[in-house]
Amino acid sequence: MTWPPPNSIETIPALEYNGKAGGFAECDDALRTRAFGSLKRQVPVIGQGTWQMHDRGPRAKQVAAVLRLGVELGLTHIDTAEMYGEGRAEELVADAITGLSREKLFIVSKVLPQNASYAGTIRACERSLRRLKTDYLDVYLLHWRGNHPLEATMSALERLVDDGKIRALGVSNFDVSDLQEAQAALRVRSIACNQVLYHLRERYAERDLLPYCQAHDIALVAYSPFGQGEFPSGRSAQGRTLAEIAARLDATPSQVTLAFLTRQPGTFAIPKAEQEDHVRDNAAAEDLQLSAADVAAIDVAFPLGVGDGSLPTN
Ligand SMILES: NC(=O)c1ccc[n+]([C@@H]2O[C@H](COP(=O)([O-])OP(=O)(O)OC[C@H]3O[C@@H](n4cnc5c(N)ncnc54)[C@H](OP(=O)(O)O)[C@@H]3O)[C@@H](O)[C@H]2O)c1
Repeated sequence: MTWPPPNSIETIPALEYNGKAGGFAECDDALRTRAFGSLKRQVPVIGQGTWQMHDRGPRAKQVAAVLRLGVELGLTHIDTAEMYGEGRAEELVADAITGLSREKLFIVSKVLPQNASYAGTIRACERSLRRLKTDYLDVYLLHWRGNHPLEATMSALERLVDDGKIRALGVSNFDVSDLQEAQAALRVRSIACNQVLYHLRERYAERDLLPYCQAHDIALVAYSPFGQGEFPSGRSAQGRTLAEIAARLDATPSQVTLAFLTRQPGTFAIPKAEQEDHVRDNAAAEDLQLSAADVAAIDVAFPLGVGDGSLPTN
């Protein structure tokens, strides 16, 4: 059986070309999308990260252009945070999306734990909106759990939804018990997503967290899906497994990796890429499907492991 099963994932037409400078490039391909947790919006399974980009100096313009190319290729889910480049990453995203239809984009940002008091969360969101030059965020996340009570942060996030400044709320680096506490602290809204470390050599998320997220309609977004660029060498058994599958599917090992990490319902991945060939590679991974035999081979090469029982963050 191939993954995904033929009717499990809805697709949307790719972004139309509007013929104007700043419009989307013509693209007829359908993108692999799925409902984003309780938000239900169809979102491409592969997005774009923005941490540790060259967001200052002469390379910044080029990086913004690559980010924009990613959007044109369908990677419309952009992940950023007030932390990244101390706000510069959000400004870079603003440059990259200038003139594009806001409704076609899916922009996620995050509040730092030290700012996540009730009033601090609202102020941080407003700062992010200004830097991003947008009226709303699609999802706003608590970056990781800190010292402010979850009740305060969650109620600020709900207030931001009520005020139309964010469409949905979410969390990052939360394990099952944190998710339960966060949900209990919410009045009426539910958590749309949990963004966690998830790559081939760190599959902790698959153990209890993913089943919990699936059961509670929480999208699981894989950050650092390439282990921050730590690819197995082509001479290692792991590297050979990926290379063999990639060669058979006329794909690259990176694409096979993304297909594996997003093979299960409710999963998304946000690789960061500032080189044009990497962005093209990641965008083309949207359509790759792995067979059950491919999944089994990767499972053997990159075992689930036992871990130390706590959610890893790096
Ligand atoms: N919530 C959190 O706590 C948290 C933590 C970490 C990360 N994140 C988010 O997740 C995003 C991704 O994670 P990450 O930046 O840590 O690392 P990553 O996406 O795992 O790896 C990035 C590295 O992979 C390279 N790369 C990208 N596409 C490639 C391809 N197709 N083939 C070969 N190499 C490729 C990039 O190169 P180039 O850039 O040179 O193209 C870069 O060196 C971040 O940018 C951020 O938005 C969130």
